[in-house]
Amino acid sequence: MTRGASLTFDQVSKSYGAVMALQPTSMSVAPGEFFALLGPSGSGKSTLLGTIAGFVAPSGGRVLVDGTDITGMSPHRRNIGMVFQNYALFPYLTVAQNIAFPLKMRRLPKSEITPRVDRALEMVRLGGFGPRMPAQLSGGQQQRVALARAAVYDPPLLLMDEPLGALDKNLREEMQEELRQFHHTVGATILYVTHDQQEAASMADRIAIMNHGKAEQIGSPHEVYDQPSNSFVARFLGEANMFRLRQVCADGSGHMRCDTEEALSVLARGAASGAVACVRPEDITIATTPTGRDNCFPGRIVDLVQVAGSVRYRVAVTPGCTLSVRASAERRATVLTMNDAVHVGWDAADMLVLPA
Ligand SMILES: Nc1ncnc2c1ncn2[C@@H]1O[C@H](COP(=O)(O)OP(=O)(O)OP(=O)(O)O)[C@@H](O)[C@H]1O
Ligand SMILES: [Mg+2]
Repeated sequence: MTRGASLTFDQVSKSYGAVMALQPTSMSVAPGEFFALLGPSGSGKSTLLGTIAGFVAPSGGRVLVDGTDITGMSPHRRNIGMVFQNYALFPYLTVAQNIAFPLKMRRLPKSEITPRVDRALEMVRLGGFGPRMPAQLSGGQQQRVALARAAVYDPPLLLMDEPLGALDKNLREEMQEELRQFHHTVGATILYVTHDQQEAASMADRIAIMNHGKAEQIGSPHEVYDQPSNSFVARFLGEANMFRLRQVCADGSGHMRCDTEEALSVLARGAASGAVACVRPEDITIATTPTGRDNCFPGRIVDLVQVAGSVRYRVAVTPGCTLSVRASAERRATVLTMNDAVHVGWDAADMLVLPA
């Protein structure tokens, strides 16, 4: 098993003329960590990855791998494996020749190449596929070959830019599982770019949420979901009911009393300097009688959708305010239908006051 490399960004930035693709960014990735860069299109994910690979020359700052400054090093001298969305296999080489390619480039003796290629094929569960041509493989199999090719020379650091982006949903989920296994097996540090929050949350040890060339928040999937540092992060990770606040003041019991733009008065937790308050759909209780939670409002069901294992309601609370509520099947004591008068409620602990 490879020892994963540590990775440090020290004030790394990139501008293209007036476009600030990457604002000065500092962060560290621990040896063996599975670290995801998550963010919308154009948020600077590939740019940041490119500064490690050497495709992007930073405008400022330094990139360090295991403490060594690699900022000015030419790409081919960096001992880094890479996997991209378009697997970029050589179409006229067999699977085995594709995987052997980086070893040949590194002038390994033939006697060493064959066992290494076989081992890499086993690692991605494609033992025996060596003689096939890439065109004779499925999309998922081709992506596994690309993975084997990136990992065959045991790089301590693997960069992956939307590697599953070209695959359909089922195959994607299967491959996510495989990538996790793969990571456990190889031990390399993985930097993984995706704009799919479910994918990042299911695979990564930590996630950096990117927006406008900046890491808005870095933390475990659990942290960034439950403790988003601002409204962008809260919105980007799953669904959130968001309220703009007119006034926030401490209520003396450790909670914040907030007046929303819709003229609702709610109790929440967080800082008095916040501008919005958010509550997740799954933290809201829906019932035919008052819920007894810290925040409780009557409303009417205006939409209802069955999703796997739960029901998503839209509940109109006031003319300007419709809430998303998700109730798991077992939490619904009574069957609710369209236009039913209901009560929704949630506790102050489940509502977070955030900067805009
Ligand atoms: N070579 C370039 N010249 C000018 N602008 C660029 C160049 N490469 C990237 N940019 C700009 O830098 C910003 C960040 O781009 P980047 O490719 O890092 O985004 P991304 O987060 O990877 O997006 P996506 O999810 O669409 O791949 C974008 O506004 C993009 O238009
Ligand atoms: Mg990109």
